[in-house]
Amino acid sequence: MDIRILTAALEQTECDVLAVFAFEKQGTDPLAGLPARINGLTGGWVEDVYTAGEFAGKLFDIAILHRPTGFKAQRIALIGCGKAGSFGAAEARKAAAAIIRQCKTYAATVAIALDASQTGMASGVTEGAIAATWEQDCHKSTNRRENKLTGVTLVVEGDTAGIAADVERGRIIGESQNFARDIINEPGNILPPRELVRRGKAMAEEFGLEVDVLDQDRMTQLGMGSLLGVAIGSAEPPFLMVIRYKPATPLSSADHLALIGKGVTFDTGGISIKPADGMEKMKNDMAGGGAMLGAMRAIAQLKPAIPVTAFIPTVENMPGSRAQRPGDIVKSLAGKTIEVLNTDAEGRLILVDAITYAKQQGCTHLIDAATLTGAIGVALGTLHAGAFTNNPEFLQKVMAASKKAGENLWHMPTDDDYREQLKSAYADIANIGGRAGGACTAAVFLKDWVEETPWVHLDIALTAYLDDQKPFIAKGATGFGVRTFVNVALGW
Ligand code: BES
Ligand code: MN
Ligand code: ZN
Repeated sequence: MDIRILTAALEQTECDVLAVFAFEKQGTDPLAGLPARINGLTGGWVEDVYTAGEFAGKLFDIAILHRPTGFKAQRIALIGCGKAGSFGAAEARKAAAAIIRQCKTYAATVAIALDASQTGMASGVTEGAIAATWEQDCHKSTNRRENKLTGVTLVVEGDTAGIAADVERGRIIGESQNFARDIINEPGNILPPRELVRRGKAMAEEFGLEVDVLDQDRMTQLGMGSLLGVAIGSAEPPFLMVIRYKPATPLSSADHLALIGKGVTFDTGGISIKPADGMEKMKNDMAGGGAMLGAMRAIAQLKPAIPVTAFIPTVENMPGSRAQRPGDIVKSLAGKTIEVLNTDAEGRLILVDAITYAKQQGCTHLIDAATLTGAIGVALGTLHAGAFTNNPEFLQKVMAASKKAGENLWHMPTDDDYREQLKSAYADIANIGGRAGGACTAAVFLKDWVEETPWVHLDIALTAYLDDQKPFIAKGATGFGVRTFVNVALGW
């Protein structure tokens, strides 16, 4: 899609829809900003829709004026943004996405107007607009949701200097988020581990990143028994995909960021099989890995100062005559043994070998993202991902990046005392810790391999996909994490 910046008077902007942010009215306060300008130019249309109760300015409210006299636009749309006082980059991103989702079925060109106080939101508005065009209907032969949109223009009456770089960044991040969503949403038959790897490789080649794919033989030689145990029940071979970004000028420090993403292309639970109801959602169980691919796609183009390496362990978790059994004991790359009391707690098993490998490769800071536990959904629902750390300072950095990205994180505990629940009678550690605090015991399991390296773990089990669409986002994969991880790297 074509993204442009235009310095022009609103009346002179040629487009199918000219969209303007509008707010809830406070008592008898007069209209301000762009809605006031539009009101003047339309002979009082904006006042009319508020007075009639047709439009209240609440988040995602929309009012449309057709063929406005004196305008080159076919339509003017007011987008509700809630209270003016609480309007920030996150609201602007969502409001822009909502208007694009509304009108992409009929409009080819949408112009979003920004006043001088809103130009700082240009990158978020661009990200939101691009993310709003995403829909997965590539597997439908009929009844596709139409997307007529070919271009989005940000119109600014006044100085646009400095916003070009923001818009370009927003475009790259928005497109990379959609790239991740395309991968994440694919079903298990279309995207087994080898296809995840193929898409990762193609992306890396397109954007000039180095790739190294460890296959089953190499992982066996290295001793990644924990990862391989999960894969053994599937006819689909496992991989550990490593994608490297190196900055042109090396950092003065040894800092090196690892982005580790769970890549279970389908999670049946294995021998500890899941109930049939809702099992189809487990096609999203590589959302962490998908998010890391999306982040690397953006990082390759935005070129942060810090080296970043993505590690994506990818397997299919299947039952079968060769599958891992409850009670099996496996030896991880770090030498530590694990009693697999539940084959459905497979994410942590593949992650620990990737964590050890990342440390061996010289990474100094680890971020992992994984659809790890249903328990995080019980704790936080769909609105926040759980964030766990062994290093509050590093978490602060990631939290700040997530705020900018409009991706909500909530700090969860990793007390050593949770380790009690993971005691095994026969091995160094058990892979489950009982029902209580399931998301915390999963994180504390990972922590055993992370040791002292600064680490942030995001449990994205319920933020990775949406069961139902929202005004600003389609049903399905969200690409959660892409924007945060890119911001972490850019902010280094
Ligand atoms: N992939 C699931 C977690 C999950 C659950 C993601 C629901 C999205 C929605 C993970 O592999 C899993 O099965 N976890 C188990 C852990 C348990 C056996 C300790 C769970 O959450 O039930
Ligand atoms: Mn599982
Ligand atoms: Zn899983």
